[in-house]
Parts: sequence; structure tokens; C-alpha cells
Amino acid sequence: MKRQAIEILRRNDRGDYTVPTASGLYPAQWNWDSCFVALGLARFDESRAITEIETLFAGQWPDGMVPHILFHGDDSSYFPNASIWRAGPKQRTSGITQPLVAATVVWHLFKCSSDPAIRTRLAALAPKLLAWHRWCYRARDPHESGLVAIIHPWESGMDNSPAWDDPLAAVEPGPSVAHLRRDTGFAAAAHRPTGPEYDRYINLVIKFRDNGYRADRLYDISPFRVADIGFNAILQRANHDLRLLLVATGDEAGAAEVEAMEDRTSDAIARCWYEEDGFFYGADTRTGSVIRKAAIGGLLPLFADAGVAARCPRLLQRLENWLAHVAYGVPSFEPARPEFKPQRYWRGPVWLIVNWMLIDGLRRNGHADLAERIRRDSLALVKRAGFAEYFNPLTGDALGGSRFSWTAAMYLHLAAGGD
Ligand code: DGY
Repeated sequence: MKRQAIEILRRNDRGDYTVPTASGLYPAQWNWDSCFVALGLARFDESRAITEIETLFAGQWPDGMVPHILFHGDDSSYFPNASIWRAGPKQRTSGITQPLVAATVVWHLFKCSSDPAIRTRLAALAPKLLAWHRWCYRARDPHESGLVAIIHPWESGMDNSPAWDDPLAAVEPGPSVAHLRRDTGFAAAAHRPTGPEYDRYINLVIKFRDNGYRADRLYDISPFRVADIGFNAILQRANHDLRLLLVATGDEAGAAEVEAMEDRTSDAIARCWYEEDGFFYGADTRTGSVIRKAAIGGLLPLFADAGVAARCPRLLQRLENWLAHVAYGVPSFEPARPEFKPQRYWRGPVWLIVNWMLIDGLRRNGHADLAERIRRDSLALVKRAGFAEYFNPLTGDALGGSRFSWTAAMYLHLAAGGD
């Protein structure tokens, strides 16, 4: 299996970046895909792993934002492609961001390498990472609440999570884009977001485009604005890892700045805990309402904070209860709820990248047994169904795209222990 995983990463390699799959479903570079892919690449080619992140940061905007897609080549099989986005000051990109996992990956690679040349390249990324984190707080938390907002479901990476149902319903659908979609030509429509969701995704893009993607405007004008618990938990872990990287590379002032971000977000995440439900929830910052939906992002404070399991024991019970309802963990939404759909993208399927974040978080929280169960499930899914984009938690069947880069990368990383 390891050989196959390496073959997939080589086949999807475009020289200095990796496409998520060679099938045509995603013919560009995706931000968090590249970061997770780097963890797998590092298992057999450390230098190439760093190139993946360097290429991503070559697309960084002058204000610090790192876009969720970088279009490098022929993107005609994708909708919305560069000609729809019309974004990117230096190269063709999308105009929104994605979860800030990069600092966690860069710190991981830095810690694991003793090669001075590798460490120098990684250290050169530190100021760029800091600029992205600064942008995130400045543009997305202008009132300094400690929680940053996403303005598009795509920014969460968990596009059609039931957590967005209510905030997305408030967005005008705009004209139907059903005839423009390409994704359903590569993956089963029943595994993908619906037509009404896509109409709203695209209408948001058009609105941002009409506003010139100006970071100082989008926060106020976006009809979708959510302080997502998953996005903030990933950011918080990245803050922690970025601080360690800055200390290790001698940037004390940068480290102090990140520590202040961390302190603010730590308090804010603690306020997202609902003891009566035993779960963390984000909020719709346009309406002020709490999003009381048990989506996988609500488990990610485990990844952010090594003390969360001790403070919130009910969160672990909740996770164990989810696992008791499925053959393979971890489902992306609470099973046995009406919104749970075992085949539809982020409404139930298992994603190995999330499993890795939970495994890492559970270990740091002192729950190695539960982490091991999730690691075993992850490897078993790949052995059973191959390197699918995501998996059915009830049957273990493959879903979405096939021969997927981040699944191959996570397989390599987890098969080697996952540390
Ligand atoms: C897609 O096209 O499905 C992506 O998730 C958007 O980034």
C-alpha cells in the first residue's frame, strides 16, 4: 500500500505543486491539500515537501492572505476557474482563503529535520506564515473577539457541512449554475453539494469579485459570516506551532505577537463550549446565533489545545458515542441526526485529514487508545476501498474522487505512526 501511495503522489505531482487528484476534478493547487500532502511527501522526499509549501506561498497576496486555490495550468475542467474568479495580483488565484494548517506542517517538518539546508528553507517561510496569521486576525476579526470569521463555506474546507445550512440559507442563490458545474462529471452528484448550495457558493464569489476582493470590505458586506469552531481550532493550533517556529528561528518579537493572538483565541474557544450539550459550537456573526450543530469542527479543539479533554470530559463521551454508531470513524457529522448523510461530502463521510488532526489531538490530550482506534480505522479504510477522497462511515465504501493525494499522504503519515 505504501508503494501505491507514493505512486499516487508522484502521478499527481506537477513539478512544484501537487493536484488533489489527476482525474480532472481539481486541476489546480489547493491550499490545505498542499499542506497535508507535504506531510506525506516528507516521508520519502523532504525537499519536495518544502517545495509544495514554497509554491503555495509564492501565491500569497501582498496583504498576507494565502488563497484557497492557485491556478497554475489548464483549469478548464474546473468551475469556477480563474476566468470566473479574476483574482490574484501576481498569479491567477481564488479570492478567499482556507484553514491555516501551514504553520503546523512547517513546524512539524522543521522539528523532524536535522539538515541545515532544509531548516533554512523552512525558516524562510516563518515571516510569510506570520503575515498570513496577521491578515487573518486583521481582516476577519476586526472587533478583536478572538474568533476569526469565514465568509464562504469553501473557506472552512468543509463546504456543505450542516453547520452552514442556516447561514447559507440567508444568502441569495443568484442565477442557477447547474449547467456550469464540472464536479458532477467526475464524482457522483449524490456525493457532492447540492444545486441550491452551489448557486449560493457562486453568488458569494461574484459579490466578492464585484468588491475587488478588498479585505477591508468583505467582512462587512458578506451575507455569509461565521465564526467557525473548526477553522478557529485549526488556527489556534497553527498559532501555537508558529510561535514555536518563530522562537526556534530567533524571531522573539514575532513570537510575542503570536502569543497575544493565542491568548485571545484560547479564551474565545473556551466560550464556545456548551456543557449541557457536551460540545463546542461556532456562531453566525451576522445574526449572533449559536450554530447548535454537532459537526466535526466541534471536535477540533482537541487538536488546538492539549488540555481540552481534561476540562471537557463530555467531549470524549460524545466522540465515543459517534464511533459506536459507525463501522469506521470518524464521521464528519453526528450520526443518527437527520442531517447526517453517509455519502454526501461533509455531511457524514470520513476524511483522513480530519482523522489525523483528531489522532494528533487525542494523543496530546492523553488519549492514545482512542487515537489508535482512529488510526486503525483510517488504514483499514484505505486497504478496503483504496485512496478515495472520502469514505462512507457505515460501509467503508470509497466516495468522491479516486487516487487522491491527501489520502495517500495521510496513509503514508499514519502508517508510519502519525507523529
Ligand atoms: C470544490 O470545488 O469542491 C472545492 O472544495 C472548493 O474549494
